[in-house]
Amino acid sequence: MPATVFILDFGAQYSQLIARRTRELGVYCEIVPYDVTWETLAARDPAAIILSGGPESTLVPEAPDVDAAILHSGIPILGICYGMQLVARHLDFKLVKLDHAEYGPATLEVTRPASPLFAGVPERSRIWMSHGDSVVELAAGFENLARTDRCACAAMGDAARRIYAVQFHPEVVHTEHGRGILENFLRGVAGITERWEMESFVDRAIEEIRARVGSDKVICALSGGVDSAVAATLVSRAIGEQLTCIFVDHGLLRKDEAAQVLAAFRDVLHLNVVAVDASKRFLGELAGVEDPERKRVIIGHEFIRLFEEEAAKIPGVKFLVQGTLYPDVIESKTPGSKAGHKIKSHHNVGGLPEHMDFELVEPLRALFKDEVRALGRVLGLPEHIVARQPFPGPGLAVRIIGDVTPERLAIVREADAIVREEIDGATSLDPHPWQYFAVLTPVRSVGVMGDGRTYANLVAVRAITSEDGMTADWARLPFDLLARISTRIVNEVQGVNRVAYDVTSKPPATVEWE
Ligand code: XMP
Repeated sequence: MPATVFILDFGAQYSQLIARRTRELGVYCEIVPYDVTWETLAARDPAAIILSGGPESTLVPEAPDVDAAILHSGIPILGICYGMQLVARHLDFKLVKLDHAEYGPATLEVTRPASPLFAGVPERSRIWMSHGDSVVELAAGFENLARTDRCACAAMGDAARRIYAVQFHPEVVHTEHGRGILENFLRGVAGITERWEMESFVDRAIEEIRARVGSDKVICALSGGVDSAVAATLVSRAIGEQLTCIFVDHGLLRKDEAAQVLAAFRDVLHLNVVAVDASKRFLGELAGVEDPERKRVIIGHEFIRLFEEEAAKIPGVKFLVQGTLYPDVIESKTPGSKAGHKIKSHHNVGGLPEHMDFELVEPLRALFKDEVRALGRVLGLPEHIVARQPFPGPGLAVRIIGDVTPERLAIVREADAIVREEIDGATSLDPHPWQYFAVLTPVRSVGVMGDGRTYANLVAVRAITSEDGMTADWARLPFDLLARISTRIVNEVQGVNRVAYDVTSKPPATVEWE
């Protein structure tokens, strides 16, 4: 195993951000539930431990706690926000509840610039605060390292015990030198020298897959998406011909996409692919279905049925590759909620049933989405797969409001191709929209083209900015870009005479219309 930092999760969103930043700095880390015992951690030989922020106050009864033995273990520790208060609570500090909680931007003033935590950090810099309690008296051995106008102790440390804590959030982008402070802790204080890089991940993953699979046969469902493509490529590097990929084309992908991904899988990545063109079968099942959830269920079931049919034709298969990612497996235990995993509300096409008689190989289980893309690039996947924008498993079926027919599919596919071509070409957009597409509405309206009156379809264009699809804002596209998209769609796509732009954020709307 690489040198590993463990992040104790007191609030899932903070922990994930800390983990991403840590990995960006080339240090491998894992998120563990906040109530993990020192015994469990010790068995994994931690290089350092980070106590994350969380929404609670340590001053309330039953506040989520940390195993005290962790704080006395001698392993370098960084407490962040709530984590700082836990350090305080266990090591005899005086902590008080503030009259007014401090949220948002503040100016950090480093009062001990010689501290290794602040190497290279200017005396004054912008930070992001969010706390209702404050340390007012330090325990023996600790030094007060920094302050803000409203917080007398914004950072503290005990160099001998290598325990540091900050009241602000170094993991958020609003903290100007947050990355530097985190790096100072990981490299300067904890002394981690190893660099965790994709190349070494690949070597290790290949060895693990070989050891696990031996000479057995493996199958993988390819969806055209980045996760399954990267997972399959990695497994194929490890075991070559023992892997068979099954690509079920449901006929609901974007223009030319099925042919492109198939060509990439076969000719560039040299994967052993069984391709099934099932568009007719899917369209048949979808005929007359208008309800979005029914569409999802039908497509999901049909996908599984086809995959099982194909898998049954390959004798002696023991393993199934799945592109599961780290955010789906984090055993997070956010205080206050008993919920373990976040449950995805989508019926994911490509998600296979649990009762299948295969053992799972999940080579991306430790990775975040951006790391999967980086891995894809290291493995030589073409950019159009690696940088593919998020695309719903049920494909264009949920971008045709109402009945899915071959004619309507052709309209949305052509309109979508124009939207993508124009926005892909607008390389100076900042930020570049996260997702952009066309929706075919059931509305028809009157128009005039040449000398004639038309009564044709309304296409909606949706372009959003987002970090993860959970929340989104509509992209402020330049008017001339919108004008080009609109003119081209009306001129080039048969059956469309009007284009509307969706100016709704999520919430209250969703990204997709169905
Ligand atoms: P919504 O519409 O829920 O979309 O705001 C959030 C993100 O999820 C994608 N999405 C799906 N992905 N299967 C998927 O794999 C689905 O059924 C599905 N529905 C929406 C959507 O494109 C956006 O990125």
